[in-house]
Amino acid sequence: MINRYTVIGRPVAHSLSPAIHHMFGEHTQRRIEYTRTEADPDTFIDTVKHWREVGGKGCNITSPFKEQAAAVCDRLHRRAELAQAVNTLHMHPDGSIVGYNTDGIGLLADLKRNKHCSIEGARILVLGAGGAVRGILEPFLEQRPSELVITNRTVDKAKKLADDFSLLGNVSAGNYDELSDKGAFDLIINATSMGFGGDSPPVPVSAFAPSALAYDMMYQSETPFLNWCHNNGIANTSNGFGMLVEQAAEAFLVWEGVRPKTRMLYPRTSEIINSV
Ligand code: ATR
Repeated sequence: MINRYTVIGRPVAHSLSPAIHHMFGEHTQRRIEYTRTEADPDTFIDTVKHWREVGGKGCNITSPFKEQAAAVCDRLHRRAELAQAVNTLHMHPDGSIVGYNTDGIGLLADLKRNKHCSIEGARILVLGAGGAVRGILEPFLEQRPSELVITNRTVDKAKKLADDFSLLGNVSAGNYDELSDKGAFDLIINATSMGFGGDSPPVPVSAFAPSALAYDMMYQSETPFLNWCHNNGIANTSNGFGMLVEQAAEAFLVWEGVRPKTRMLYPRTSEIINSV
């Protein structure tokens, strides 16, 4: 029997998830089929239900449906509940749909396993306060950083997030202008949706500790933020390709009960990127 999965989003044509999951299937010797499904906000819920009705075992959910996906679930895993955002749906044999959020643990896995970056005791700066940030705060705070600062253009959104997660650790919020007074950070994560051809978030060089890791959640090798880092002497940088792979491995674990050995896949990065 083939287990069937899909990624639902809009747009979704450039999703790398099918290539990644097919490689996981090969490595773990599971027979899976993984497709892309485009939806729109009006049809999203019906699209999910249809996938369940035709025997689909799970879905990944990508932009802009992660919040809407939380509402379609019968049960939410604790992380998805806290994030109020779901990137993985698991259709159970009894017809119930359980929602997970693997984005944050995927990012953590990339940082810890692949980049050898320690979060405990670190000063962390997160740029942006959208859905992507909501998904990573709980797993990060669980690792006990000394401080986590959320900086956003719209400061009220950052403050709301810091308030919502304040019981879980030392988290605060501010705007970009305040960053020159906040000292140096060990890890700076760009979680804004500022895209290509756009500017980099306005972070001062003084915010980067000498060996700081600058991490962009976008998986492309060149982004405005990473280019800005390179031009400003920030040597230790990473794009978000590893996060994409590791969050996928966590979703595969939910569905198939085995976590693929992701290190087998990194040598095939260009094959994955060229799959679209
Ligand atoms: P996602 O689900 O990817 O997090 P989102 O919820 O739309 O997407 O959030 C996008 C984030 O990028 C927000 O923090 C947004 O800042 P605002 O809350 O002020 O809108 C940030 N962002 C997008 N474009 C930006 C820009 N030009 N300058 C600064 N921040 C920007």
